[in-house]
Amino acid sequence: MPQAAKEFFAFTAAQLEDRRRNPRDDYLTQLASGALGDRPLTDGEVGGILMSFFIGGHHSTTAAISALLHHIITESGVREALANDPGVLPKVIEESLRLSTPLAHFARTVLQDTEIEGCPVPAGSRILLNYVSANRDERRFADPDRFDLGRRPNPHVAFGFGGHLCIGRHLARAEMTTVATQLLTRLPDIETDGEVRFSGLIGGNLHRILEFPVRFTPENPNARQNRTADGK
Ligand code: HEM
Repeated sequence: MPQAAKEFFAFTAAQLEDRRRNPRDDYLTQLASGALGDRPLTDGEVGGILMSFFIGGHHSTTAAISALLHHIITESGVREALANDPGVLPKVIEESLRLSTPLAHFARTVLQDTEIEGCPVPAGSRILLNYVSANRDERRFADPDRFDLGRRPNPHVAFGFGGHLCIGRHLARAEMTTVATQLLTRLPDIETDGEVRFSGLIGGNLHRILEFPVRFTPENPNARQNRTADGK
């Protein structure tokens, strides 16, 4: 195990021990007394859960943020819509997640013999849930390749669905909201300055932008100071 991971698990174990001695109203206290069936979770298992937050929440969110900025800057009408009504941002975020789904697919093991659209799927099969394809399914989304701010509802599955629905989706949406709001406030004239380069699939799963040249007028430092002083 890499040294950093060892240190992380040791840190987690110390935190859990502290929560058992001094319980308080927080998530770690809940995890410290968590159970799997009729046995308590081990410190290693809790460390694994917390580690999955880092892994699940890192590349996915950075990919989603860069795709969002790309859509805001390049999709016709989106900047204007946001300038007229910042309340449109959640729709922009959902449509960006649908069209530029950061995590392409996850696998499942089939537990019992079944059939999907006439195709027999025996128990024990491995199947791939292709979220990119689902998010462009023309049976669910009219004109699926179009960035459409009027899409309602927008039942995309960029965060998965069912029992494994992304636990970090609210945080991810909050981060996307903050970055987009700051960008549009601080660099209002940002525009493209060259070709965007996409990654294709990294590690068989992640889609992201590798390069997106832009130009903008740097923010006046006094404006930033004033904003900081205002606490905004
Ligand atoms: C835009 C950003 C994100 C995207 C696109 C995304 C996408 C997903 C998807 C598709 C799944 C379902 C996996 C499956 O079907 O098996 C998932 C699960 C998960 N995500 Fe996210 N995620 C994002 C942000 C985050 C953040 C910020 C965190 C943590 C802070 C996080 C933590 C997790 C964890 C722990 C799971 C596993 C849940 C489970 O299996 O019960 N994700 N995510």
